Amino acid sequence: MRVFITGTAGFIGFHLARLLLEEGHVVHGYDGLTDYYDVNLKRRRHAILSEYPGFTATEAMLEDAPALESAVRAAQPEVIVHLAAQAGVRYSLENPRAYIDANLVGTANLLEIARALQPRHLLMASTSSVYGANTDMPFVESQKTDTPLTLYAATKKANEAMAHAYAHIHGVPTTMFRFFTVYGPWGRPDMALFKFTKGILEGTPIDIYNHGDMYRDFTYVADLVRAIRLLIDVPPPPLDQRDQPIEGDTLSPAAPWRVVNIGNSNQVRLLDFIEAIEAELGKKAIRNYLPMQTGDVPATWADCTLLLRLTGYRPQTPVHEGVIKFVQWYLEYFGVERNRS
Ligand SMILES: NC(=O)c1ccc[n+]([C@@H]2O[C@H](COP(=O)([O-])OP(=O)(O)OC[C@H]3O[C@@H](n4cnc5c(N)ncnc54)[C@H](O)[C@@H]3O)[C@@H](O)[C@H]2O)c1
Repeated sequence: MRVFITGTAGFIGFHLARLLLEEGHVVHGYDGLTDYYDVNLKRRRHAILSEYPGFTATEAMLEDAPALESAVRAAQPEVIVHLAAQAGVRYSLENPRAYIDANLVGTANLLEIARALQPRHLLMASTSSVYGANTDMPFVESQKTDTPLTLYAATKKANEAMAHAYAHIHGVPTTMFRFFTVYGPWGRPDMALFKFTKGILEGTPIDIYNHGDMYRDFTYVADLVRAIRLLIDVPPPPLDQRDQPIEGDTLSPAAPWRVVNIGNSNQVRLLDFIEAIEAELGKKAIRNYLPMQTGDVPATWADCTLLLRLTGYRPQTPVHEGVIKFVQWYLEYFGVERNRS
């Protein structure tokens, strides 16, 4: 199968591309290698993918519509997975423009090309952040998501709506994913696990928001991309081919479109997460307890029943196992000696 993936120099796109290449598929990656975080890490990810004969890539921005169009046309993909975005909840307070450009303009450009090329399935990243101020746990896809707390969440909610309108008018089967706090090797330097590991190793204080009273549904990246891989083979059916309804399906009555949570279906206390990192590093963190950050939520928790019904699969790597794998990667990547004193 020929797959076009945006965001292949990014954390999740890299892992998904590698999984598909290992299976023998042909992948064209598209990434602007933005400097939101260390570009060397992005280059290293692309260098690894380039070792596979099935991988080619275009380095360009989503906002560059002609570049995006010519890359997709040349690749002639059967499947498009759109993961490139300005990610990060906190940075959207600092640089809102980046979210408008990448997530709204960039995604609109991608939808226009998908409309013209009509792949058999378009899959796009949304986020658990769209659940915003919801407090009913676990979060189920059918809940209202009308209370985003950051511009990041608002742009992702807009992406879900934009994709729905395109699926309605142009008929491209579209799956939206709501990812829950993804972590693992080759992870993002702006995310908690990376920052905590770095801080503990360097002996600098780590910031712990809401005085540690935070809970997250941490999803191990290998589990997440396995779920994406399985969902690729389950495109939402057109309106006239829906004989076997699935309980709890989010299939739109007006379009071949659905939204699916991908999480670990498990709430982990942030302090337990930190203890798992400390245990693996053999060193205690210097903890800097802080109040809640603007736009942040105290808890997330995914109901992944729909994912299970659609694919027979549910992520389940326990957090301590995933943390061990991340720490092993981190030490090797940065050439750091483990301190077991
Ligand atoms: N990692 C998580 O926990 C998480 C949670 C929920 C949703 N998501 C979503 O999953 C997707 C992938 O996230 P990730 O963690 O791999 O992030 P990432 O930042 O590592 O990867 C995104 C990639 O997109 C590229 N990019 C950004 N803006 C671009 C633009 N305008 N044009 C071209 N390329 C651009 C970046 O260079 C980067 O390599 C994103 O859509 C993100 O919003 C991630």
